[in-house]
Amino acid sequence: MRMYDLIMKKRDGNALTDAEIEYIVKGFVSGEVPDYQMSAFLMAVFYKGMNDREILTLTKVMAESGDMVDLSSIDGVKADKHSTGGVGDKTSLIVAPIVAANGVKVAKMSGRGLGHTGGTVDKLESIPGYRTDLTEKEFLDVVRKTGISVIGQSANLTPADKKMYALRDVTATIDSIPLIASSIMSKKIAAGSDCILLDVKVGSGAFMKNTEDALKLAEVMVTLGENAGRKTRAMITDMDTPLGYAIGNSLEVIESVNTLKGKGPEDLTHECIELSANLMVLGGLGNEDECKRLARKAIDDGSALKRLISMVEAQGGDSSVIKDTENFAKAAFTYDVISPSDGYVTSMDAAGCGIASSMLGAGRETLDSRIDHTAGMILRKKTGDRVAAGDVLTTLYANDESLFKAAADRYMEAVSIGKERKERNPLLYALVSKDKVIRYDK
Ligand code: URA
Repeated sequence: MRMYDLIMKKRDGNALTDAEIEYIVKGFVSGEVPDYQMSAFLMAVFYKGMNDREILTLTKVMAESGDMVDLSSIDGVKADKHSTGGVGDKTSLIVAPIVAANGVKVAKMSGRGLGHTGGTVDKLESIPGYRTDLTEKEFLDVVRKTGISVIGQSANLTPADKKMYALRDVTATIDSIPLIASSIMSKKIAAGSDCILLDVKVGSGAFMKNTEDALKLAEVMVTLGENAGRKTRAMITDMDTPLGYAIGNSLEVIESVNTLKGKGPEDLTHECIELSANLMVLGGLGNEDECKRLARKAIDDGSALKRLISMVEAQGGDSSVIKDTENFAKAAFTYDVISPSDGYVTSMDAAGCGIASSMLGAGRETLDSRIDHTAGMILRKKTGDRVAAGDVLTTLYANDESLFKAAADRYMEAVSIGKERKERNPLLYALVSKDKVIRYDK
């Protein structure tokens, strides 16, 4: 086989055989296929797509390119959740403890922030001492002991995805449904859980900009999960406006703890109940309504917060910051961004808010940048809210005052204030399961 011929075959819109896909992925991981040929191949996939069988094979070969985690030594049902990435998206920190409090084990490997989006691992590392780099044995022991563990991806999980993702990131080939679906599902399948809930974000702050594309991606991923023998569902949720009010690592952990105490923002709480309930349905705890009731109960009776505390302690973290969030380290400086006019917030570009937060130190400028865990912003107004000239729109947090001006300007570019009130988009657009798609927006 020659890589040249396979690039040409895909470039001309033909389907590759399973053996050809295996040759490309294995060759790229071993270094036999150079970056420039893989880049050309990825661009050919971007333009010509892949059929269902090709995506299935690609996902399987990528999943099997490294370690396959074996969770069979842990009793009961094991569940995982994945978000395609957003701004202010701290749902994993809330959903995982709710589900674990109801007896479904959560064994979850999470990612770091990417571009303007935040990552669960960075958020958890704002808890002093919390280890996200457990060995596989330590990871399994924590799940056995506390019913829940959230760690970073182990070094040898899906090396094919790591290498392909890095290349896609610099060759404008990220936003392709076959490539996103195989990237996400290879990691989820290799991570070993029985049930997978996918949160597919749609809107200005997400990879998928419209509901139809998000639905297509969700359907492909659910099929990949079910084909691999995992119970899989996907929810399509809004990411036009940031979720909740906090953006930035420790600020988001604080908002998550408040939500687990029943004092969280309405949008975040509602979305987390829905996500938790769907994961619990997959875990066999009942129908949607029963599972929503169980999810709410885990917040009301404090059992979900207790699970989070147990996990933090089992992974070496200082739980005093969770028990009393006043104990979190704070940024040295704050800066209020003021509304220049009267009216209503008519739109907030979530990506712009994420970039402004990143400019304060909450995200990485380069792969090796160090994150400032205390940096970020607390939104004071969101889409649909009335504002008067002089009102605070958002409060910025940083340890270097010189960062405020540029971040405030970037934030203001992301926000529009108009005379007519505009409703926020719905939070939930659709639920995709193996045999049905329910649209909430139609
Ligand atoms: N997240 C991933 O893990 N992979 C993608 O391709 C896009 C988002």
